[in-house]
Parts: sequence; C-alpha cells; structure tokens
Amino acid sequence: MKLKNILLSFLVQVTLSTTFSEPINKKFPKNFIWGTATASYQVEGGWQDDGKGESNWDHFTHTYPDHIANGDNGDIACDSYHKYLEDVELLKDLGANFYRFSLSWSRILPTGNADEVNQAGVDYYKNLISALKSNGIEPFVTLFHWDLPQALEDQGGWPNTDLLVEKFADYARLAFSLFGDDVKNWMTFNEAKQTCQLGYGYGVFAPGVNSDGIDSYKCAHTVLKSHARAYHIYDEEFRPTQNGRVSMVVDTDWFEPASDSDQDKEAAERKIQFNFGWYANAIYHPDGNYPQVMIDRIAERSQREGFEQSRLPAFTPEEVNYIKGTYDFFALNTYTTTMVQWSDDWEIGTPGYDADISVTTWQDSSWNSSASGWLKVVPWGTRKLLNWIDQTYNHPEIVITENGFSDHGELEDGGRVNYYLEYLSNILQAILDDGVNVTGYTAWSLMDNFEWLSGYTEKFGLHQVDFGNPDRPRTAKSSAEYYKKVISTRCLVDVCED
Ligand code: NOJ
Repeated sequence: MKLKNILLSFLVQVTLSTTFSEPINKKFPKNFIWGTATASYQVEGGWQDDGKGESNWDHFTHTYPDHIANGDNGDIACDSYHKYLEDVELLKDLGANFYRFSLSWSRILPTGNADEVNQAGVDYYKNLISALKSNGIEPFVTLFHWDLPQALEDQGGWPNTDLLVEKFADYARLAFSLFGDDVKNWMTFNEAKQTCQLGYGYGVFAPGVNSDGIDSYKCAHTVLKSHARAYHIYDEEFRPTQNGRVSMVVDTDWFEPASDSDQDKEAAERKIQFNFGWYANAIYHPDGNYPQVMIDRIAERSQREGFEQSRLPAFTPEEVNYIKGTYDFFALNTYTTTMVQWSDDWEIGTPGYDADISVTTWQDSSWNSSASGWLKVVPWGTRKLLNWIDQTYNHPEIVITENGFSDHGELEDGGRVNYYLEYLSNILQAILDDGVNVTGYTAWSLMDNFEWLSGYTEKFGLHQVDFGNPDRPRTAKSSAEYYKKVISTRCLVDVCED
C-alpha cells in the first residue's frame, strides 16, 4: 500500500476531530542524524549463553512470572545474540546513520566485578560494533539500560551508593577501553527514573523493592554520582585519544497545565521538575544540584513525617560542581503528554514520591491511543517540551534518543506512520521556527521486542518479529518503508520545498 493510502485509511479510522495538523513540507537540516534503538535485555536473549551472568531482569522474570504479561521473559527475546548480523542488515536497509543499543553488564562481567571478564561477551559486542562500522552505521552505546548483574542486586543494588558508584566506574572504564576506539557516542544510563522509581519505589520493576520516596531517592543519588564518575573517567583517561561524547538519557512527558491559572502552571512546573529535573538538573542545569522545589518540599514533608533528615539525599557543594556539566549533548527520550492540575498538599502519611509532588494528573480522553495505556498520541506536546528544555537548560544540543508508538504488531502500521509523521513535524517546527538545536532522532524501536511488564503484548518495532517461530524472522512494516524514505529525503511528506 502506498504511504498516502495507509495514512488516509488510518486518518479516516481515527476521526478527524483529534489533534491532526498539516505536516510541514520543509526538509530536515542536512547534518541531522537518524537512528533506531533497542536494549540488551529486550532483544538479545541468550540469557545464559557463553558465560553470561544472571541479571536482575533474568532473576525478576524467572522469580515472578506472574508479574509479566503471559509470564513472558527475555530468555530468547529477538535472539539478537545470535542474529545481530540480520539486525545490521535491517539498519542498513533503512539507511540509518546510527544504531543505539545497550551493553548487558552481566554478559561482559558476569558477577558485576571488573576483575572477571567474560571474553565471549566482549567478542559479541566487538563483532556487532565492527559489523555496524563496516556498513557505515555509528554505534551509540548505552552502558546501563536497566539490567543490573544480579550479584550486585544481591548486595543492595542502586540504593547501595558507595558500592555501586565504584562498580559502575570500573565497568564504564572497561567499556571505554574495550570499545572506545570505535564508539564515539556513549550514554551512561537510560531512563534511570524507571529503574529507581519503578524498581525501588513502587516495586513493580526489577528488583521489586517497595521503598517509595526513600530508596528511590537513594537510587537516583547513586545514578547521578555514577554518571559523573564515568564522565570524568572518560574526560581524563579516554577523551584525549578517543575524542567521543558522553551523555545520560533522561526521559519525560510534556506536562501541560490544565488551565491558564498561576496555580495550574506552578503545578505543571513542579511536576516536570520532579519528573525530569530530578535527573536532568544536576547534570544539565547551569546551577546543578536537584531542583530547589524538590529539595524544599521533600525536606519539609520528611520533617513533618518524623524523619531526622530529608529523605532526599544532599549533594555537597563539591559534588554539585563535580556533576554539573557532565554532558556533551542532551539525550532525551519522550513519548507523550500528561495534563496537570493544582491540588492541595496531600496529607502526611506514608512517605512517597507522588505525595511529595502533590498534583493531579491525567491524559485527555480525546487523544489517540496506542497499545500502551500510558502512551497517547500528542505531537504538539513534544514541541512544547523541546522549547522548555531549550529555555531551562541554556540552549543545549539535543539528540532525541527515543520516541515511538506501540500497537499489536500489524505490518500495515498506519498508526505508527502517523505518529512519526506528526511527531517529526513538530520536532522540525521546533528546529526551524523556534530555533531549538535538535541534531538527531531515534525511532524506538528497530524491531518488536520484550516490553518489560507487558512482555510481548505491546509492539514498538519498525520491523515485526515472529515470536512464535524459533528463528525469530524479522519483516519490515509500512513504518520501516516510511522511515527509510524520511531518512533518504529528509522530507516527511511526498514532496518538500528545497
Ligand atoms: C523507554 C525505554 O527506554 C524502553 O526500554 C521501552 O521499551 C520504551 N520506552 C517503550 O516503553
């Protein structure tokens, strides 16, 4: 089916009363770069092949299969551990400039410790990187995309700040030294908020610890210190010879105030500071540290709850300076928008992150849906978010390191084509009309994969993977054709102005 027909039939189906606006017919800048992303646990499989150690996600999915849709896990996933050359072919066919993937820490270091290296794991990534490079595709490598060696989880995981900062520093140094001649773009952590708040706060992700507003804050503290350590290690020991870039991926929705009232605007600003500033401020803001609104509110509520000190750990002035500015570009994951309304402060009771924020949130029922409950299609929110980042963090270079849409895996995926068209149109307006410095875009995901608690029920891929077939064959969807065309023409519609 031609792009126009796919779009047309999709638009007729989803009603024209939604937020569809005419996509712009200008071209993306010549030096704009395009890629797709995956993550180790979501695609690799081979969970215990060739000496790989157990990760906390192996452990979690095996221990609590009832926590995952259909009791599924990443034991085989897309089998990219064996089929990575096919993945590179898919990328080549798309014309992608880069591939963002993550290293499985426990594949390289089965116990998490840098003194015990699994050579087969190192070889796997060397082979993948070399296949990418020989096809002209730049590797963008994430060190930590949620799968922690279980041996480190057993010692307390991320809330164990002193241990984890050291272990992560050793792991990062090893990765830079092993792969850094070929890898010029590094991301230390992916969406650490999901690890910290879902893993150690609400307790729904691995490792399933319920310590909302206590361990979740400690976890974030460790992550920020670990990121900065890795950045400085790169700066001092590797940058002079390897000359690459290091960043940390932070994710957020756009938070739209429910009305023009000062209270709703203040509530939306507070929400984005807790949600995004929690990780972004210390690194990307010229003043560093946690957002003041977090420091003040958590200290005040902790005191009323009877804690001797704030549940939010404090950075010393030296630490604030050490963490501040540890980035070479702003790495942003974003998918959707949430409405925010002012609320009176929630009552003091069980401590928790949401009570610390005390706002009311929802998603508008008129917004188009995806297969994921949290993901509504709100393209204009991304343009607003990009402008907010541009203003708040002093006009950084931004690379969108994830953006995408879920459905049930159909090959004629008009919903996904429409999502990319509309989101990219708003991103292009942010670049051309608002002057935001966005230099790259990453479609999540190269292929359908293990979507965490949703198992294989929500599909984000440009390529379909047949999970019922032991060979895990990949098939291009309509969105792969569309993305390929966008990459080659830099144009979102059939014809663009020159
Ligand atoms: C964010 C995460 O980085 C990725 O692992 C996940 O699959 C996608 N978003 C979609 O939920």
